[in-house]
Amino acid sequence: MTENCDIPDALIAALRDARHVCILTGAGVSAESGVPTFREAQDGLWAEYNPQDLATPEAFVADPALIWRWYRWRRETVSAVEPNPGHFAIALLAELVPQLTLITQNVDNLHQRAGSRNVIEYHGNIFEDRCFADGSLRHADDQTAVPICTDCGSNLRPGVVWFGEAIPEHAMDKSGSAAVDCDVFLSIGTSSLVYPAAGLADLAKQNGAAVVEINPNPTTHAANFDLAIAGNSGLVLPELVDCLAH
Ligand code: APR
Repeated sequence: MTENCDIPDALIAALRDARHVCILTGAGVSAESGVPTFREAQDGLWAEYNPQDLATPEAFVADPALIWRWYRWRRETVSAVEPNPGHFAIALLAELVPQLTLITQNVDNLHQRAGSRNVIEYHGNIFEDRCFADGSLRHADDQTAVPICTDCGSNLRPGVVWFGEAIPEHAMDKSGSAAVDCDVFLSIGTSSLVYPAAGLADLAKQNGAAVVEINPNPTTHAANFDLAIAGNSGLVLPELVDCLAH
C-alpha cells in the first residue's frame, strides 16, 4: 500500500499500465443507494414473493398484471434513489484509463444517471417496455394494468432479461470481446452465481487479464482471482479512483 492509499499497490499499478479495463457490476453496486440486492429479502407487499419466481416468462404469462405491479413498484423504488459514490467513481474511472468497458447485470439505470456512457446492459433495463411477442422496444401507457402493443395487440412487458431467457446478442458479443481484450477485469458487487455473466471473469483471466473482485462478502470465485478486496463498492471505488488520480 502506498502512503494514504488503502488500495493494494499491485492493483493501482495494473490500472496505470492498463490499455483496456473491463468492469462487471452486480446488485451490490446499487446496495448503498438503497436498492435491495437480488438475493436479499424483499420488503413490504412483496416480502412473500421470491424475485426469482417473478422474473420469468412463465410468471408473466400466468399473471401479467401481478408482474406489471411488481415492476412498477421496482421502477418507483429505483426512481426514488440516487446513484452512490461507487457509481460516480466508475464514471470517473473511465476518464482515467485509455479504454473502459462497463458491463452491468443491474437494470436500474443508476450507472447512466451517474454519468457512465455506453453501458452494456447485460440483463436489460427496467425502464424499457417491449412487445412480449417480438421483443421490439415500445412505450407502455402507464394507466393500464397490462399495457398492450399497439402494433400487434400482444401484451407489453418490462425490457429486462428474465431467468431462462437469452442475453441480448449485442450485449453478449460486446461483453465477450471486452473480457477477452481487457488487461484488468473488475468484478464488483456480484455474487457471481448467474451465468453467462459469471463466466466473463474466467474468460478475462484465460486471456491474460488481472482479475479483481470487490465485494464485502468474498465469493466462491474469489479464490481464482488475482485479488479480492473485501469492502463496500461505495467506499472502495472512490478510494481506488483517488489513488489512481494522484
Ligand atoms: N458493495 C459491493 N458488493 C456488495 C455490497 C456493497 N455495498 N453489498 C452487497 N454486495 C454484494 C453481496 O455480497 C453479493 O455478493 O453484492 C452481491 C449481490 O449478489 P446478488 O444479489 O446475487 O446480485 P447479482 O450478483 O447482481 O445477481 C446476478 O442474478 O438474480 C439475477 O438477474 C439477476 O442480475 C441479477 C443476477
